[in-house]
Amino acid sequence: NGNRDNSRGALIVLEGLDRSGKTSQSTRLLSYLEQQGFSVESWRFPDRSTCVGEMISSYLANKSQLDDRTIHLLFSANRWEKRSLMEMKLRSGTTLLVDRYSYSGVAFSSAKGLDVEWCKGPEMGLLAPDLVLYLNIPPEKAAERGGYGGERYEQLEFQRKVAQHYKMLCDATWKIIDASLPMEDVEKQLREFVMDCIATCQIGKPLSQLWL
Ligand code: TMP
Repeated sequence: NGNRDNSRGALIVLEGLDRSGKTSQSTRLLSYLEQQGFSVESWRFPDRSTCVGEMISSYLANKSQLDDRTIHLLFSANRWEKRSLMEMKLRSGTTLLVDRYSYSGVAFSSAKGLDVEWCKGPEMGLLAPDLVLYLNIPPEKAAERGGYGGERYEQLEFQRKVAQHYKMLCDATWKIIDASLPMEDVEKQLREFVMDCIATCQIGKPLSQLWL
C-alpha cells in the first residue's frame, strides 16, 4: 500500500434504489477487505454529520421544505465538502467504499423533472469513481422487502422513475449486478469486481474527475 509512487486506493461506489441492499453489501465488503489486510473505509452520502448534511436529513424526514434545485445543490455541496479528504485518503492508499454518490444526485433530482445536464453541472470536477456497482432490482421487489422507512423518496412510483433515470447514467465504470439474487451470490460477484479494481489502482491508474 502506498509504496509505489502512483499507487493509491480505489474509489468504489455502490448505487441502487432504496432497499436494493447497498448498505448490507457495503458492510460485508468492508469486513471482507479488512480481513484481507487492505486499508479501507466505508463512506456514505448524504453524510448527515455535517451542517449541510443536517439540512438534507431534515428535508428527507419531511421536517423542512426546499425547492428541488436547492436540495439538489445541497446534496452536491455535501460531496464537495468531502472532496479533499477523499482525495487525501485515496492517495495515501486507502480504498473507499461509498454508499451513493453523484449518480444518486442526478437520478433522484432528474426523476423529479429537473434537466439531466443541469443536474450534472455541480457534480463536475468531483472525483470520478474507479468502479460503480449498481445493485439492480425491480422497484416492486425492493418495495416488497419492506422497511421503506417513510423518508421522502421512499415510494414505489417515484422509485420507478429513479430506476429509469439511473439507467441513463450507466457508463464504462459501471457493473450491473442482479440484486434479486441471494445475498451471498451478490456478495461473491461484488468481491470479484472490487478485487480487480483495487489491483488496477495499486499499479497506478490515475485519478480522474467526473463529467468534465
Ligand atoms: P440514504 O437512504 O442512502 O441515506 O439516502 C437518502 C435519500 O437521499 C435516498 O432516497 C436517495 C436520496 N439522495 C438524493 O436524492 N441525492 C443524492 O445526491 C444522494 C446521495 C441521495
